[in-house]
Amino acid sequence: MCGIVGYIGKRNAVKVLINGLQRLEYRGYDSAGLSIVENGELVTFKKKGKVAELVKLLEDRNFDSTVGIAHTRWATHGEPSDINAHPHTDNSGKISIVHNGIIENYHSLKQMLISKGYTFVSETDTEVLAVLIGYFYEKTKDLEEAVRTALSEVQGTFGIAVLSSYEPDKIIAARRGSPMIVGIGENEFIVASDAAAIIQYTRQVIYLSDNEMVTLNRESYNTKTIDNVVTNNIIHLVDFDLSKIEKGGFEHFMLKEIFEQPQTIRDSFRGRLLVEEGEARLGGLLPVLDKLREVDRIIITGCGTSWHAGLVGEYLIENLCGIPVEVEYASEFRYRNPIIRKNDIVIAISQSGETADTLAAVQEAKQKNATVLGIVNVVGSSIARETNAGVYIHAGPEIGVASTKAFTSQLVVLSLIALFLGRMRNLSKIEGIQIARAIKELPSQVEKILDKAEQIREIAREFSYSRNFLYLGRGYNFPVALEGALKLKEISYIHAEGYPSAEMKHGPIALIDENMPVVFIAPKDEIYDKVISNIEEVRSRKGRVIAVATENDERITKFAERVIYVPDTLPMLTPILTVIPLQLLAYYMAVELGCNVDQPRNLAKSVTVE
Ligand code: AGP
Ligand code: GLU
Repeated sequence: MCGIVGYIGKRNAVKVLINGLQRLEYRGYDSAGLSIVENGELVTFKKKGKVAELVKLLEDRNFDSTVGIAHTRWATHGEPSDINAHPHTDNSGKISIVHNGIIENYHSLKQMLISKGYTFVSETDTEVLAVLIGYFYEKTKDLEEAVRTALSEVQGTFGIAVLSSYEPDKIIAARRGSPMIVGIGENEFIVASDAAAIIQYTRQVIYLSDNEMVTLNRESYNTKTIDNVVTNNIIHLVDFDLSKIEKGGFEHFMLKEIFEQPQTIRDSFRGRLLVEEGEARLGGLLPVLDKLREVDRIIITGCGTSWHAGLVGEYLIENLCGIPVEVEYASEFRYRNPIIRKNDIVIAISQSGETADTLAAVQEAKQKNATVLGIVNVVGSSIARETNAGVYIHAGPEIGVASTKAFTSQLVVLSLIALFLGRMRNLSKIEGIQIARAIKELPSQVEKILDKAEQIREIAREFSYSRNFLYLGRGYNFPVALEGALKLKEISYIHAEGYPSAEMKHGPIALIDENMPVVFIAPKDEIYDKVISNIEEVRSRKGRVIAVATENDERITKFAERVIYVPDTLPMLTPILTVIPLQLLAYYMAVELGCNVDQPRNLAKSVTVE
């Protein structure tokens, strides 16, 4: 998920690699490292922390090598540490690899290799691939063939670059589901996961396709599929400037992250959904399986957007599993002396895994002997380490202060947990299959919503005059109303409140006049008619209604001034779709008002203070 750079040519490799890693720093990462071949020997340096730490490690050393690979890691398997940092080597110490992505079957491959006497030093999935390549190299004595065979055994996603002192004038790179670009210079090549690391040297590139690999020698290169079929690639000319690609071509990180959601949602359920069995496989919960069977009550805790995800989790788990759920602000939970009984389970939700209030809530719950689970994005973060078990959301680094892709991935993981717990209880296989199928559809449905960005931008322009907004939704979409309002106030400084639609008449209705935009989240579900009545109440007081509704719902156009459609899905999954237009609305509103979207005033990405 993070950065790869590889170089072979005539320049000083260490300089090119460090420069490349610095170009990739904007992506967020937790450790950095590189391997070169120097005087025929493979040499590796790696360090937890920033690229600057790696640079310190290399200080006062001179290298002449003109070939090497480098990496910035965003940990998924094993906490950030010097040992888990990439590159990883095989057991001979002569083959080195860097890897982005996740090797899903690393566990069984590792068992197989251990049974043959191979050993491991890190906790990563990547090291398994390095050792596997070494295993095949012993048989074939051909690096390209060893890499190809190893990759054909692998399930999951990868962008990799491989270097070896066995065949020192060569870099091999490959990809599946993780980008890999080859920059073609004059008697030099630079391969990277992101064009940002390449374009300083050359603008001629080839983009590897999924399941394709490239072997770079100093003067030439060849490409083939992992099934050993030779491929031909068109050389493209990259013509964008550096400042743009640093955000992947997007104006802001927030927009980039909103648009990443088809992929990040897929990453959250990848390898975890057993569609035909109608089940979820969550390895991270296995250590607490007995507790989960006996659970009487679940308490979900978190802050901000993560707390909103928890509210959706309450509906999901109560509806699918029949387990009572309470959701509590972590900041309240920690000071309230909460009652925790023997069979209660506490689930802490946090993108960063470092939020001080949530961490303190986890510690409070542990103090009271509760089983504490984490739903966390950042691997190896404090909350991930403090909890007894948990599920990573695998959304990749989130840089924009306003959380977007982490929220939808939290909802995916909560849906998987509800499916998992439900199937341990009364949820039928047929229902399970329906849910699993619907989850699988989400990425392409999100793409359809993102296609409407221009329409949402126009709505933002039209309503940017307003200093107040109301967001209303019911059931699963009440938390989405809260989240929509939070997004708007965080980045555009417009005052916004979220309520359950029916609560409006108990107070907020007093605010409604012709200047008050009201955003209704009104997908076709069992309470749709009730929401329509609430919309009428607003209309009859001249309020201006923007509705988020289900595709083909013609009826709603009679009541709402503007309608943003989302594809149809199961009611329980609607929040994952309905929140997307609200993220875009907040974003475009903030841009319209000239606000600093990625670093809004007074806010920090990770609130590590009380
Ligand atoms: C979301 O847009 C916010 N910036 C904020 O509310 C955030 O969700 C909250 O601080 C919790 O952070 P965490 O998920 O990293 O624990
Ligand atoms: N899964 C690998 C690890 O945890 C790669 C992570 C990445 O993409 O940076 O080390």
